[in-house]
Amino acid sequence: MEKTVLLDVIEAPDPYLKTVSTPVGAVDADLRRLMTNMAETMYEAPGIGLAGIQVGVSKRLLVMDTNWDEATPRNPKFIINPEIIWASDERSVYNEGCLSVPEHYAEVERPAEVTLRYLDYNGEQVEETLSGLDATCVQHEIDHLDGVLFIDHLSKLKRSMIIKRLRKTQRDSVVL
Ligand code: NI
Repeated sequence: MEKTVLLDVIEAPDPYLKTVSTPVGAVDADLRRLMTNMAETMYEAPGIGLAGIQVGVSKRLLVMDTNWDEATPRNPKFIINPEIIWASDERSVYNEGCLSVPEHYAEVERPAEVTLRYLDYNGEQVEETLSGLDATCVQHEIDHLDGVLFIDHLSKLKRSMIIKRLRKTQRDSVVL
């Protein structure tokens, strides 16, 4: 078996994160290898979701595992070319974070339930309704595919405060 590789996660305010990702053509061995590496990167971070654009691949794919913790076995969900075909009027609020916006969290309101159509790890079409943290997570990740970060849902003032702090942290850190 091939060894998995940890990928570098791109952080805001890198403008690459604003790229709108393009649909995946074929779900083939190369794509599955990429998704496996993305899952490993997500678990190592640790995070519960990761989109292709965050590791430098502007394709419409994401991995998530909202139940995972040290006591729960890994059960990654691979989602390719997702489309939200229904969203509930009911909204829910979670305190969101993002591997591309390290150490910042904010409450974001989104539809509480969504129905998705997507291709899975084997390239099979799936239609599925997600709720709770799954619904929030998948909407956060699909936002990434459209070049949107959770901080884009906040007021301009809050967003610019976070961007300013991120810039400062990056300026003050040394990578040796
Ligand atoms: Ni994110």
